Amino acid sequence: MSSVHLAVSTAGYTMPPLWRVLTKSGYFLGLCGAIGATVTYATAVRPTLRASHDQADDTAVLRRRTASYLAWAGVVLLVAGYFQLAARLARAGKGMPFADALAPGRLWDYLRAPAAKGAWIAQGTVYLVQNAVLVLTAAVLIALFLPAARRRLDALALTALPLSVAVTLIAAVPATAPKNAEKVLDLALDQVHIVAGTVWLGGLAVLVALAATRGRLGDGAGALWADLWRRFSLVAMVCVGAVTLSGLWMSWKHVGAVDQLWTTGYGLFLLVKVALVAGLVTAGGFNQFWLMPRIAEARRTDQEATLRHLTLRHFPAVVWGEVVLGLAVLGVLPLLSGSARTEGGSPQAESSAGVFAAGAALVLALAVSLYFTAKASDAIGRRRGAAVPAA
Ligand code: HEM
Repeated sequence: MSSVHLAVSTAGYTMPPLWRVLTKSGYFLGLCGAIGATVTYATAVRPTLRASHDQADDTAVLRRRTASYLAWAGVVLLVAGYFQLAARLARAGKGMPFADALAPGRLWDYLRAPAAKGAWIAQGTVYLVQNAVLVLTAAVLIALFLPAARRRLDALALTALPLSVAVTLIAAVPATAPKNAEKVLDLALDQVHIVAGTVWLGGLAVLVALAATRGRLGDGAGALWADLWRRFSLVAMVCVGAVTLSGLWMSWKHVGAVDQLWTTGYGLFLLVKVALVAGLVTAGGFNQFWLMPRIAEARRTDQEATLRHLTLRHFPAVVWGEVVLGLAVLGVLPLLSGSARTEGGSPQAESSAGVFAAGAALVLALAVSLYFTAKASDAIGRRRGAAVPAA
């Protein structure tokens, strides 16, 4: 506790105001709901439901729950988007009290302000387009409250998917041309980080919400859920790789030395965030190496009750823990403000051929390790299956 106090209070760290913390966490929560749920629907839920056409009742229950989840995600996105826009205005230029920035008239003036000198487009126009897309995304999702629209779940969810990703991408369009290629890389990796992070956390959240329907699912639901978890595991693994790589790049940009992780406020909050992510990865590893092989074995040996218990009780319990850790990650990230390099007096990060070579080696190492993780989990499942005679 004393080292937290020391780093935060003496190393030139400025704690962001509460409204800034809440609006930033809220905005990324809104993106998790929209991006995470639509991508998970498209990559895991939809293909699983299509493959289980012989379980029409279970499929209908899950489609209904998905539709109401997506509709509420639209509401959260809309509210979070409004507060995030007010926070942008409160931080723009000389700034204004956050309460004043909430006034719709002031927001409208901000969005229509002329371009600054040297800008190819007014910053307000970029945010105007972004927020128009955000409202459209929310409208598409909120339409799912209507029974008639629910019959078009596929069309609406698959329309909201690219729109929700565009919300974050458009906000990143620079109003002045980036100085060099590295700035473009910074922007691109920041977006990779946001999209992969929101897909991962948002996907976990939508799946625990769907698993809560277990009381209404039929006896054969275990196999359907085994398929769902298997598909999502792959999506989550790709996201972990992308979040880690982009996160390492951003960390290198902002942290000049390892000891800055505990001697600066920025570093300390980054350390807390990475510890929370490590908890998430550990829980994911438990799912992959302990639960998935047992699920595969129960499926092969037709142990229906075990399969149901593992997929609809055990798995969601672990994923609930992951959702709590994910919320803590969202709570910590607004505290990553400023830079440990500035606080610690290190020079700005300068890239070189060596840095890019190290990055390329890391990409390769991560790709190889993710590939072998999937293979190893598969092999454990097969070995367990071979050891237990079929029922
Ligand atoms: C569940 C995993 C994670 C999620 C959901 C996540 C999400 C985010 C988000 C939404 C931002 C804000 C980006 C912005 O405002 O433009 C951010 C910033 C950041 N993340 Fe992560 N992140 C995760 C994991 C990681 C990991 C593993 C690392 C380090 C290896 C990391 C390092 C960073 C850094 C350094 C920043 C700050 C960039 C800045 O100061 O501008 N993140 N993260």
